Amino acid sequence: MAIREDATAGTKAAGSADAAVDAAAGGRRREDFKDIAVRTLGTAGAAIAQLTSGLGTALPALLVLLWLAVTAVTSVVGVGLLMAPAPLRALHALAGRERDRLARWGPEVVAPQPPPTRLRPALVDPTTRRELRWLVRHAVLGFTLGLLGVILPIFAVRDSAFPLYWTFLPKGATATSLAVGSAHSWPDALAVALLGVGWIAIILGLAPGMARTQARPGRELLAAGPETDLSLRIAELTATRAAALDAHATELRRIERSLHDGAQNRLVSVTVLVGAARRMVARDPAGADELLERAQSAAEQALAELRTVARGILPPVLADRGLAGALSGLAANSAVPCRIDVDVPERCAASVEATAYFVLAEALTNIAKHSGAGRATVTARASGGRLLLRVEDDGRGGAEEDGGTGLTGIRRRVAAHDGRLSLTSPPGGPTVLTVDLPCGS
Ligand SMILES: Nc1ncnc2c1ncn2[C@@H]1O[C@H](COP(=O)(O)OP(=O)(O)O)[C@@H](O)[C@H]1O
Ligand SMILES: [Mg+2]
Repeated sequence: MAIREDATAGTKAAGSADAAVDAAAGGRRREDFKDIAVRTLGTAGAAIAQLTSGLGTALPALLVLLWLAVTAVTSVVGVGLLMAPAPLRALHALAGRERDRLARWGPEVVAPQPPPTRLRPALVDPTTRRELRWLVRHAVLGFTLGLLGVILPIFAVRDSAFPLYWTFLPKGATATSLAVGSAHSWPDALAVALLGVGWIAIILGLAPGMARTQARPGRELLAAGPETDLSLRIAELTATRAAALDAHATELRRIERSLHDGAQNRLVSVTVLVGAARRMVARDPAGADELLERAQSAAEQALAELRTVARGILPPVLADRGLAGALSGLAANSAVPCRIDVDVPERCAASVEATAYFVLAEALTNIAKHSGAGRATVTARASGGRLLLRVEDDGRGGAEEDGGTGLTGIRRRVAAHDGRLSLTSPPGGPTVLTVDLPCGS
C-alpha cells in the first residue's frame, strides 16, 4: 500500500514536474514571442527611420541630376562646359553625405581618393562615373523608397485608427488611404481598419528589405572600388589605433602618478598620525587631540585630491549640464573675455565629449597664459555625426606644438578618436585651433 502510495506520489510528482516543465516552456515561449515582437518592431522602426533619412540625400540627388542634365545639354552650345565643375563638386559633396549617412546605419563606407572636379579628367575618372551611376539610382529608386517610408506609416495610422474617427467625417468623404470607396457603415469602417492592419503588416515585413534596397547603390558604388589603394586608410587607422593605446597608457600613468603623489601620500600621513595619537591618548590626551586634528585635515586634503583626479578622468560637469553647458561654463570662467556659440543638439560618446571639454580647457588656458589676447571666440557644432570645435584668439600668435606638453597632449587625445586637430598661429596672430571629432567612437 505504502509502496503504491509512494508510486502514485511519484507519478504525481512526475506529473507536477511535467506541468512545471510545460509551464516553464510556455513561459519561455511567451518570452520568446515577446522578444521576437519587440525585435520585429524595433527593426521595422529603424528601417522606416533609415528610409526617411534617405530622402535627405535622394531629394538633393534629384536636383543635382537635373543640374547635371542642364549642364550636359548646354555643353552642346559651349556654355555648360564652363559650369561643369560646380555640379560635379555638388555631386562629390552629396556622395560624401550619403557615405556619412550609410555609416550611421551600418558599417563605414570607405571613400575612394577625392575625385577631380575639372571636366576632362572627371569624364574618365572611375570614381566620378560610379558616383554618377549612384546618383541616377538614388534619385529614382532611393527617392521612391524614401517617399514610401514616409507614406506607409501615415497610411497605417490613418486606416487602422479609422473606426475611431470615421463618424465625424463628412458624408461621402474618401475613406481609405487608397481612395477606393467611402465608408457608410460600421462594417465598412472595420474593413478600413483591416486595411490599416495590412499596412502595418507590410511595414513589418517589407520595410527592412526596402531600407537595404535603398542603401545598396550607395554601399556598392560609393565605396572605394577594387582599383583604389586602401593602404593609406589602413596606415591611418593603424596610426590612430597606436595613438589610442598610447593615449590610454599616458592617461593611466597620469592617474597613477596623481594617486600616488597626492591622495596616497596624504593617507599614509593619516595612518601615521592616527597611530601616534593612539599611542599618546592615555599619556597626553591634549597632544593626541592635536595629532587627530592634523590627521583629519590630511584626510580632507586626500579627499580633495581624489576629487580632482576623478574630475580629470571624466568631468562631472558633462554629466550634470551636458556638453553645451560644460563648454559654456569653461568660457564663462575664462580669464580672457570669451564669446561662445554652441549648437550641439546631438549627443556624442562620453569620451568624445570629454575630449572636446579638455581641448577647450587647454585652449583657453593657453590663451590666458601665452597669447596676450583681448578676446577669444569659441564655436562648437555637432551635426552629421561629427563634433566641430573652433577656438580663435586675437593675440600675438606663434603657438608651437613643440613648445610644451599641452597641445601635444590634446593632439594625441584627438587622434585617439580618429579625429583631426589643426592649429594655425602665424607670428602676430590670430591663433585658430580647430578640432573635428567623429561623434560615435
Ligand atoms: N593661443 C596662443 N597664443 C600664443 N602662443 C601660444 C598659444 N597657445 C600656445 N602657445 C605657445 O605654444 C607653446 C606650446 O603650448 P602648450 O603645448 O600648451 O604648452 P604649455 O604647457 O606651455 O601651455 C606655449 O609654450 C606657447 O608659447
Ligand atoms: Mg598649455
